[in-house]
Amino acid sequence: MERDLTAVEFQRFHDHIYTLTGIHYPPEKIALLSNRLRRRLRACKQQSYDAYLTFLQNRQNAGEVQEFIDSVTTNETYFFRCQRHWDWFKAWAQDRAKEPETRRNGLRIWSAAASCGAEAGTILIVLDQLLGRGFGGIRVEVLGTDLNASILEEAREGIYRPYALAQTPPDIVKKYFKKLGEDQFEFDRELARHETFARHNLMEPLRGRTFDFVFLRNVMIYFDAPSKERVLSHVHDILTPGGIVMVGESESLMNIKHPFTYLKPSIFQKPLPVKARG
Ligand SMILES: C[S@@+](CC[C@H](N)C(=O)[O-])C[C@H]1O[C@@H](n2cnc3c(N)ncnc32)[C@H](O)[C@@H]1O
Repeated sequence: MERDLTAVEFQRFHDHIYTLTGIHYPPEKIALLSNRLRRRLRACKQQSYDAYLTFLQNRQNAGEVQEFIDSVTTNETYFFRCQRHWDWFKAWAQDRAKEPETRRNGLRIWSAAASCGAEAGTILIVLDQLLGRGFGGIRVEVLGTDLNASILEEAREGIYRPYALAQTPPDIVKKYFKKLGEDQFEFDRELARHETFARHNLMEPLRGRTFDFVFLRNVMIYFDAPSKERVLSHVHDILTPGGIVMVGESESLMNIKHPFTYLKPSIFQKPLPVKARG
């Protein structure tokens, strides 16, 4: 298929992607989406966009649904993305580490929309630098989730290209990564024992877990207001009272209904329960 999607075809794919993922493709992304779909058309030997959509919606081709989702998501990420965020996180962790409750319960952190795990890895590096090996006896668990199954495989492998480390100071690269080849760096295996990766759609609740801190960065840019509100409500459900949600640098919660208290740009807190009076 040489040409881009027509406006009508674009709308059909837009609606299908939105239903599956909450992602809203704006009309100006028609060329990008066409390009991404062309690869799936070729892989599935379909002659037209319409034929591919029919193929995708056929229950017999259920395996293609994940391939489709993987092809329409954008996974851009790297270690130490937005240094200001990491300075804030470090100060937060420093305070939390002093609390007896943290000694009892540990620190539970969710990298929602984890992509290949660069954010989860940065969390562990920052905590290791702050608290030392073994995190000073504090139990640390980092959960990384994403909707894209193939990027999660990369996260589990923990092998990164130089691009992912371009913003990482050389001494940190030296300490926390093993050079496997010219272009391959393996993340510290011991630290990686504290991270797990699982497939999860942010449009659905994450059940059975609670977290003290949620990184929800650079994913809501792809969502419209109803999808953002849905995700924020799910995040609220799993945060402990006083817990933090951090959004991306370019993301705003203006005009979005949400239950959090604003602390600083990108940083919001789940309110503590109001103490009963009298
Ligand atoms: C641009 S990356 C952001 C990675 C990282 N949080 C960061 O800030 O560097 C966005 C990620 O969100 C994931 N994503 C998009 N829609 C999602 C959804 N509905 N549920 C879970 N993950 C989603 C994509 O697969 C992609 O890996």
